[in-house]
Amino acid sequence: PTPILYDCDPGHDDAIALVMAHRSPAIELLGVTTTCGNATLERTTENALRILDYLGARDVPVAAGCHRPLARPLVLGTADGPSGLEGTPYLPPATRGPVAEHAVDFLAARLQAAPEPLTVVATGPLSNLGLLALKRPEVLPKIKELIWMGGVFWRQSDIITPTEFNAFCDPEALGIVLDSGVPITMVGLDVTMQVLIEAEQYAELDRIDTPLGRVVKDWLLYYEKLHRNSMGVGGAMHDPLALALVIDPTLVRTRPAHIGVELGGSYTFGATVADFWRERGEPDNARIACEVDADRFFQLMFDLLRD
Ligand code: BDR
Ligand code: CA
Repeated sequence: PTPILYDCDPGHDDAIALVMAHRSPAIELLGVTTTCGNATLERTTENALRILDYLGARDVPVAAGCHRPLARPLVLGTADGPSGLEGTPYLPPATRGPVAEHAVDFLAARLQAAPEPLTVVATGPLSNLGLLALKRPEVLPKIKELIWMGGVFWRQSDIITPTEFNAFCDPEALGIVLDSGVPITMVGLDVTMQVLIEAEQYAELDRIDTPLGRVVKDWLLYYEKLHRNSMGVGGAMHDPLALALVIDPTLVRTRPAHIGVELGGSYTFGATVADFWRERGEPDNARIACEVDADRFFQLMFDLLRD
């Protein structure tokens, strides 16, 4: 299995990604770090702990990270409701707390101790990774790949077109990470808005009919409301798709480019900009997911929910 560190802000779609990370035999989940984003840090941390409890994964350490973006006021998402994980009656409060270390120190220690460079998956605002790059730059070569869910180039955005939520929440952190030299795979809305939970997927969840499948279905029924109201489509599997690339990188086709993030604009801060033709002469810093095989993704996701 591929050992990973997972930085997230659960959040329903982060929650499903966490379930997949724990369930997949292709992944060894070394630790989870949390950030504010879909809800406050306190809630996203509690949610990560509750989910791991439910999965019987109390041995996976959770480290709480940044409670606000590095340089901007706190922005919280609305899609997941006040707790960040509304809609499920099944998850009792967590039976343990996070580890004493801050997420940044936890990540640094785990990266340093790893015999080989590790894959990091990040599906929230990049505050923790940005702070890691500032505080412990010497451990960055121990990140083999950062798979990041965020950004958008062409499609309708989920917040302020052309800006994606994770990029919008902490653009300075994103800028630091983009300039850090860490190899990045960007899984943006361009692909994640093509993996939508619609009637066909609900029908498959009904067929799966496991306790875990029912929890996930309840999460999705809550989560999709905002998508349905604002964009007229079902719930997008943003974070699960990013996580799934650890298991099967061929689910997406990528193109290399230099990505920048707008930090100056009054209206455009957080917008991601890709220089595919290398017009600005900056070296490529990312591989950008530009096509996705949604059917194969759903097959993989559903297989991980079966008994
Ligand atoms: C991203 O924003 C959050 O609401 C989701 O969890 C996902 O990480 C999509 O823009
Ligand atoms: Ca997220």
